[in-house]
Amino acid sequence: MKAIRVYETGGPEKMLYEDLPIPSPGPGQALVKIHSIGLNFIDVYFRTGLYKSPLPFTPGMEAAGTVEAVGENVTLVRPGDRVAYAGVIGAYSEYSLVSAAQLVLVPGNVHFDLAAAVMLQGLTAHYLTHSTFPLSKGETVLLHAAAGGVGLLLIQIAKKIGARVVGTVSTEEKAALASNAGADHIILYARDDFEQEVKRITGGAGVDVVYDSVGKTTFEKSLNCLKRRGMMVLFGQSSGPVPPMEPGTLNAKGSLYLTRPGLAHYTANRDELMWRAGDLFQWISEKSLSIRVDRTYPLKAAAQAHQALESRQTAGKVLIQP
Ligand SMILES: NC(=O)c1ccc[n+]([C@@H]2O[C@H](COP(=O)([O-])OP(=O)(O)OC[C@H]3O[C@@H](n4cnc5c(N)ncnc54)[C@H](OP(=O)(O)O)[C@@H]3O)[C@@H](O)[C@H]2O)c1
Repeated sequence: MKAIRVYETGGPEKMLYEDLPIPSPGPGQALVKIHSIGLNFIDVYFRTGLYKSPLPFTPGMEAAGTVEAVGENVTLVRPGDRVAYAGVIGAYSEYSLVSAAQLVLVPGNVHFDLAAAVMLQGLTAHYLTHSTFPLSKGETVLLHAAAGGVGLLLIQIAKKIGARVVGTVSTEEKAALASNAGADHIILYARDDFEQEVKRITGGAGVDVVYDSVGKTTFEKSLNCLKRRGMMVLFGQSSGPVPPMEPGTLNAKGSLYLTRPGLAHYTANRDELMWRAGDLFQWISEKSLSIRVDRTYPLKAAAQAHQALESRQTAGKVLIQP
């Protein structure tokens, strides 16, 4: 089978397109023939070494495909089942081994591309809005990178709940996409001071929650956008990691809450995974959640996919085709 391998961490050129034997599923595992792979920013963190994986490794944390074979003691899926998963490394490949407990069945009316596009970023948007800071109608959200993969999904889910969404984006094109997804206010944060804009939009009150995945360049000002006892949800670092901070800062800025959540801890048991994935597939089926696939690259061009994501060219989802 063809797969991408990383022998040493670094730039996109460290991803090599190679031949590997098709693996056999062990106990509890399924072998998935991959039809569509989702690109995520976490793939960049693993490639650069910001997140650690033993070397060599095959990158990729999300895919959809067909169960080809199962190991001993697997009862949740059978060969031929249409499945999708997120959070298991090794998806940049024609086949991948996945623990059966991490697979969800894809409804017959949902294309593999949409399933691969919605798992990781959709599960993330779900847990952020339903569990980390369970949003209520009328609350105001500040969401950075609002036209990104997570961003466009989170806008739509927040609007379903009835929250008001203030989104930041870098370009007019991305502003139009975030508005179409339902954002109430858009700030061009590469041009305008988003802290001042948020204060203007909220009449000085501030927002209930900030969902910040940009990190280094937005974190400090984001704290200033919160109302008293508001919550700062730092869930990524697309611009680089946030430096250490004094806990006293949270007190000084209004008894704020700070959390740094990760998807694995919000899908740690199967009930939670099935709840979140079930909601996403339901919304896709009833067409109340739309997924924007920005572009698709062949597996051997995975390096180009990374370059596009890292250089802020993409909006919505990028797929990779084995
Ligand atoms: N904690 C979790 O559970 C979890 C799960 C999924 C994703 N995440 C995080 O969520 C974030 C979004 O992930 P995604 O896959 O959906 O990516 P994405 O939002 O589609 O892409 C990243 C976006 O971040 C913005 N950005 C701002 N400064 C940047 C910089 N210096 N370099 C690159 N991008 C910059 C860009 O939007 P503009 O051009 O509009 O600025 C860019 O398009 C990532 O930080 C990821 O790690 C976290």
